[in-house]
Amino acid sequence: MSDLHDHRLPRTAVPLRYDLRLEPDLDAATFGGSVTIECRIEAETSEIVLNAAELDIDEATLTVAGHDATPMPLAAELDEGAERATLRAGVPIAPGEVELRLTFRGVLNDQLRGFYLSTWTDADGAEHVLATTQFESTNARRAFPCFDEPDLKAVFAVSLLVPPGLECVSCETEIGRDEQPDGATLVRFADTMLMSTYLVAFVVGELEWTDPVDVDGVPMRVVHVPGKAHLTDFALECGAFSLRWLADYFDLPYPGNKVDLVAIPDFAFGAMENLGCVTFREALLLTDPDQATQAEVGRIALVIAHELAHMWFGDLVTMEWWDGIWLKEAFATFMEMACVHAWKPEWRQWEQFTVDRAAALDTDALRSTRAIEFPVGSPDEAEAMYDILTYEKGASIVRMLEQYLTPERFRDGVRAYLARHQFGNTRNSDLWDAIEEATDEPVRSTMDTWILQGGHPVVEAEADDDGLRLTQRVNRYLADDDDRRWSVPVVVRSGGREHRRLLVDRVELVRLDDPIAAVVNAGGHGFYRVQYATELRAALLADASEQLSTVERFGLVDDTWSAVLSGRATAAEFLDVVRAFAFEHDLPVWRALGTGLRGIGRLVGPDDHDRYRAEVGELVRPALDICGLEVAEGEGPLERQLRGLLVGLAGSVAHDDEVIGLARGWQAADQRGDAVDPELAAAAVTVVAEQGDDATYAAYLDRFRGATNPQQQLRYLYALAAFPGRAQLERTIDLALTEVRSQNAPFLLARCLDHGEHGAVAWSEVRSRWAEITERLPSVSLTRVLSGIRWLIDDDTSADVAAFLAEHPVPQGQKTVDQHLEKLQVLTELRRREQPRLATLLA
Ligand code: BES
Ligand code: ZN
Repeated sequence: MSDLHDHRLPRTAVPLRYDLRLEPDLDAATFGGSVTIECRIEAETSEIVLNAAELDIDEATLTVAGHDATPMPLAAELDEGAERATLRAGVPIAPGEVELRLTFRGVLNDQLRGFYLSTWTDADGAEHVLATTQFESTNARRAFPCFDEPDLKAVFAVSLLVPPGLECVSCETEIGRDEQPDGATLVRFADTMLMSTYLVAFVVGELEWTDPVDVDGVPMRVVHVPGKAHLTDFALECGAFSLRWLADYFDLPYPGNKVDLVAIPDFAFGAMENLGCVTFREALLLTDPDQATQAEVGRIALVIAHELAHMWFGDLVTMEWWDGIWLKEAFATFMEMACVHAWKPEWRQWEQFTVDRAAALDTDALRSTRAIEFPVGSPDEAEAMYDILTYEKGASIVRMLEQYLTPERFRDGVRAYLARHQFGNTRNSDLWDAIEEATDEPVRSTMDTWILQGGHPVVEAEADDDGLRLTQRVNRYLADDDDRRWSVPVVVRSGGREHRRLLVDRVELVRLDDPIAAVVNAGGHGFYRVQYATELRAALLADASEQLSTVERFGLVDDTWSAVLSGRATAAEFLDVVRAFAFEHDLPVWRALGTGLRGIGRLVGPDDHDRYRAEVGELVRPALDICGLEVAEGEGPLERQLRGLLVGLAGSVAHDDEVIGLARGWQAADQRGDAVDPELAAAAVTVVAEQGDDATYAAYLDRFRGATNPQQQLRYLYALAAFPGRAQLERTIDLALTEVRSQNAPFLLARCLDHGEHGAVAWSEVRSRWAEITERLPSVSLTRVLSGIRWLIDDDTSADVAAFLAEHPVPQGQKTVDQHLEKLQVLTELRRREQPRLATLLA
């Protein structure tokens, strides 16, 4: 790590209030601005250092409060490398309050950070632009000179000079407008609460908004570009519920005065928790729920709840430094499930979350995993923190703690923490301490074992004369010697009774009369794998439908697949598990079964493809027969979603002719704009693409270009990576680097790399266009593109990928790249082990 002190501003001047005025010129793609910062000088100094990047500072002056108010000129010196400006007075400035005034200019960039331009096309095909902001982590300094560190909280009074015909929004309520002689309007907003720079936002363009919904006195609107008003109802309903529910959970009112949920056509991340002006990708806010899949609307609800949870957890109480972002992100991810669960219990969100937890376990089983909390100095190091370990592992251990303490006691601790630290900054341990005080449990020492070291245990369970013997070992795909341990909250169920233990030692005995049918990780909240001794496992498999809950069945399947990746079990054993689950009709369990079936499909050699397809066809049939190929009266959303998943497996993995034929019909109807069940339509889009000729490709491209809602548009876009031909794939890669929005291109490229047959072709394209990719796409994109490499498992490609990436480091996410590479290595070794075995098995 770089030295922390190199990255922190001196504390000689601290900001109190910013009066900020911005004047964007959308046509010229530039902006001017001025800012008056009320500061307190803490110790006599002759210079003030603050952050600025990609800005020209034209003028800087200082006025000492209460004095003769004559501004004193300051000499501004910019250091682009350090992203700082030093303002020199030439004479000593005495401690006390001063006003800094700066005028500056910048460029409205296309990099999706700082103050940037986003474009959109109207119904007549004309292009329009809007200007918007994305400041987290360290990009407020690209829009105005500021003390850009999360603990330097201040009040912000924003005003925007808006060109004629345009509108604008910012964090707070509008308090006034002054028409200018040239037709422009100066729009002024109320003071914000005391908050960090990274939470400031403003958007200027041809914006429209819904009527406000009153949420216990807080007006909430959805803001969007013209033509999208019909896609806003779902977000408003979800947002209103969430805001109310969260205020109740936290036992504190919403800290701002209004909430706008703003859909931005070009957006680097999924969404951003600017106070009162939450920004989103369009596809994560705007939807027609009658045409979207359960996964699509569920995701929108989670994203809205997540960002609104940040209004308290992150915005009102904020981390002192960037090494603390994991806690706000993990906690908001935990809260998004809790909130959506409260809103729509029938979506069984916590069961779906097990799939995310499994994905985190998967990354965390690599040697290249990391501790959740680690020291952060530079902006790049902060950027690298937003990953699956922060979000999904973090949320999993928060959930594990909540379940261990009970939800009520946990919530009491959270309430105490927020009440104590509101408007302030905290270290992560402040939360554990508050919960510890509220519950009298060893919260901090337990959580430290999960936060300060990477990895997680596999708990081995064996029957013993006196009960069940549990042994914890580090869980790694690629073996390495390591004797780390965790404080594992274990729940064992046996004979209808639950036994709770905090497993601290390596080996512990749980006294039981009948250990044979015991379930370890009962309820499935623990962040660890379970490996049962043979007879225990056989007993559970034999009676899984009766004895195990959905989440426990998911765990049994997913732990088996993980054991296959580690070499502790074989693909053949996994297929036996699938056979034992012929009765299964719960979505999460099928998601785990499907992951393994698709995975094995990648391992079999070309000569065995047909036999494997037939095998999968037989394995999926019983479930398809249970749920049928048509939507039935009275079905819930998860049953429909399961049907879509099974159609995908039958069509894509088994190449089932009947299902492919039906998919063609559904997709054709969808293409015509006829009403088709969204789950079937979405599944069919992929299945048909995989068989699609050039005419179909052209039709998909048209549909992408002319789509009427964002979810449908993305389905057709991403399916362009699934067409079977090599030339088709090359065309798609070309589109990704030309026509496709830079926010979506990384995900499309990742899908191209993941192509079942021509992944290596996609790799050679990506490799040769690396410079273009780096240049064109926002800085977070490279890790997203590279998430697609894991199945490039033929020996030559796998080695080439490793060699190329060794020479092309990715500073904003080297750890994540190392993880993608290690996954590739794990799967390459898996193919070497399993391909010959599968050939024998399928013969
Ligand atoms: N604070 C983040 C957005 C963010 C991410 C800013 C990375 C800067 C760097 C926001 O709260 C968030 O977590 N967004 C997620 C979506 C969320 C629902 C998981 C995202 O953008 O992926
Ligand atoms: Zn977040």
